[in-house]
Amino acid sequence: MSAASSPPAGSATPPAHPGGPSAAARARSLPASPPPLSRPLPARGFLATSRTDAWWGRPVLVFLGFTGFIVYSTWAAFQGAHYTFGPYLSPFYSPELFGASEHAWFGPKPGWYPGWLPWSPAFLILWAPAGFRLTCYYYRGAYYKSHWADPLACSVGEPRAGYLGERHFPLLLQNVHRYFLYLALVFLVILSYDVWRALWFTDPATGATEFGVGAGTLVLALNVVLLAGYTFGCHSLRHLVGGRLTRLSSRPVRQKAYFCVGRFTRRHMTWAWFSLVWVAFSDLYVRLCSMGIWTDWRII
Ligand code: FES
Repeated sequence: MSAASSPPAGSATPPAHPGGPSAAARARSLPASPPPLSRPLPARGFLATSRTDAWWGRPVLVFLGFTGFIVYSTWAAFQGAHYTFGPYLSPFYSPELFGASEHAWFGPKPGWYPGWLPWSPAFLILWAPAGFRLTCYYYRGAYYKSHWADPLACSVGEPRAGYLGERHFPLLLQNVHRYFLYLALVFLVILSYDVWRALWFTDPATGATEFGVGAGTLVLALNVVLLAGYTFGCHSLRHLVGGRLTRLSSRPVRQKAYFCVGRFTRRHMTWAWFSLVWVAFSDLYVRLCSMGIWTDWRII
């Protein structure tokens, strides 16, 4: 055996493996101060980047789509009228807790409602689906880029020097998403009931109720299907049904449910946008029929 492979005399640390250099010898062979593996990136000004691709395309589309929806839904909620047509009820007003239509659960506008506030049945319920959307994990990732601009995109300068993240106020509030999920599941049941009601038409001549299917019935039914696809892919639901378990394989029913939710989760963004557009269209459909601008086509 050569001298290089023997433990040095007086060495306190043995070699890592028989015949190898000792720890002290290995330490001596290393550079005194290894070069840093990474260096802090230079601060960029807002929107400054060396990227040449169309990184801004998706944030702009999200900005237009989401802002358009917020503007329309806010306008529709403030109208307080033309939200029903025959057996149809706009999903922006469902459930109608108090209101003037036959769909109202507890009668007309309550006396306790502050007189100085504008009135619309939508104000009482729209906060729940709005909160569910706003705190959705997908939408957060999307509108942080398009509206909050932080982070805007990889290697693009941001408007703020620091990033607080979701462990601090105000973004900490996003964690209420799981509670909005419970409400969203209840809303799905209510909207399904609205579809059932949309199958029963009153004959204006006789006052008798008869089964039927109108184009509006299909619009409202598709709305429920799309909202269900969006809700069933919720990340919080996935966690609830199985994600929080340490050993999913030991719970076959929960495992099945987890994989089932996972199928929807994979397309969560698609479900999110289709359901967003369709819920607005459903309101528009009922509104325009109620205003006499569109005619509801009766299929059966
Ligand atoms: Fe999108 Fe829950 S994560 S709805």
